[in-house]
Amino acid sequence: MSNQIHDHDRMMLERAARRALRGHGEAEPNPSVGCVIADASGRVVGEGRTRHPGGPHAEIEAIRAAAAAARGGTAWVTLEPCNHHGKTPPCVDAIIAAGIARVVVGSPESNEFASGGMDRLREAGIEVVLRPDVDSVRRLHASFHGRVSTGLPWVVAKWAETHDGALSTPPGVSPWISGPRSIRLVHRERGRSDAILTGIGTILADDPRLDARQVRRRRTPLRVIVDPDLDTPPTALILKTKEGPVLIACRDDDDDEHRARSERLTAAGATILPIEDPRTTDTLASDSRNLRGRFSAGRLKSLLHRLAEDHDVATVLTECGAGLLQSLFEANLIDAALVFTAPETGVEATPAAPCPRDLLQLVSFETIWSGLRGDDRVVWSQRRT
Ligand SMILES: NC(=O)c1ccc[n+]([C@@H]2O[C@H](COP(=O)([O-])OP(=O)(O)OC[C@H]3O[C@@H](n4cnc5c(N)ncnc54)[C@H](OP(=O)(O)O)[C@@H]3O)[C@@H](O)[C@H]2O)c1
Repeated sequence: MSNQIHDHDRMMLERAARRALRGHGEAEPNPSVGCVIADASGRVVGEGRTRHPGGPHAEIEAIRAAAAAARGGTAWVTLEPCNHHGKTPPCVDAIIAAGIARVVVGSPESNEFASGGMDRLREAGIEVVLRPDVDSVRRLHASFHGRVSTGLPWVVAKWAETHDGALSTPPGVSPWISGPRSIRLVHRERGRSDAILTGIGTILADDPRLDARQVRRRRTPLRVIVDPDLDTPPTALILKTKEGPVLIACRDDDDDEHRARSERLTAAGATILPIEDPRTTDTLASDSRNLRGRFSAGRLKSLLHRLAEDHDVATVLTECGAGLLQSLFEANLIDAALVFTAPETGVEATPAAPCPRDLLQLVSFETIWSGLRGDDRVVWSQRRT
């Protein structure tokens, strides 16, 4: 096959990936897949992306748009077409029925129950080409493949920092670090995530609502507080804002005080989520720091597992202070970062120690997008896979 065809395949897979990106926050927990179909002469006749769970997959949308023109044509699809009956019939059947002659796949399916699509298409006499070397497709599906291989949600750490790396402003100065356009982007991301994760430090310092406001929401996120000792005030704004459930992740203690706090917070509308520490009693006894106050790395991981398994959480956006961020980074539980850096204002703020900006340097992330939102610099990076 000539280089020209190869380059064309890359270009078309990139186009399919761009379309799939528009589905971020709609398709999950399914992967947001993109598909482009050209007729036998090479003219694009159909495009599609995966819709909400139970809705059409990308291939089906593209085939519907292409109609009879798909016959003898080529389909570029970012993920191996599914080969099983889930909420919708197998996409491979639709591709075969449409008479498509060639299928270019950007990434193999990692869910065993849905795989086998490429083999099935080849058996039907369709030419199948796997092109796993397209960066935008690799980045697009990193979250899906990561979730399948770990059973954990994809965690995006979001924070706003001053130009010198502080996450909080000095007393007497406006607490807002980023500008209105950045804040709007944060609200958009909240409305595309399954859960917002914060720490008790942020609840006590800022009393935030953590809901998605003034944007078209694709989902209503769960709001989750890491609060080992149940210090959240029952009067906290997050509990008064009736925009989806509030989960409070705490120690699994049974003393009277813990039980009384749990009852007060339940009455205020919270769901209490006691998380066991997966470490043995001996290890716990030798680590007195973690008996009270802090979740160990294992406990943070257990919390994420519980969110995935019991609450169908595929994506998490963290909105916590430097304390919890540091623990999540150290536990290797952060998959991506969305960082807003404000311009210099002349106000000196004390950078957090360790500074999340420095923690980010220690992980192997690649920048996937950077630009300006008003005066703020925004960098979106993610785990290199
Ligand atoms: N710029 C931003 O993007 C941004 C975002 C959110 C918050 N903030 C700022 O951050 C400040 C609060 O920071 P913070 O660090 O106190 O808040 P945090 O990270 O939201 O919460 C930290 C608290 O969570 C508890 N915790 C439980 N397990 C933990 C673990 N494994 N690691 C760390 N903490 C754990 C601890 O409570 P105990 O101390 O009771 O043990 C700890 O003090 C506020 O000034 C707020 O304005 C900034």
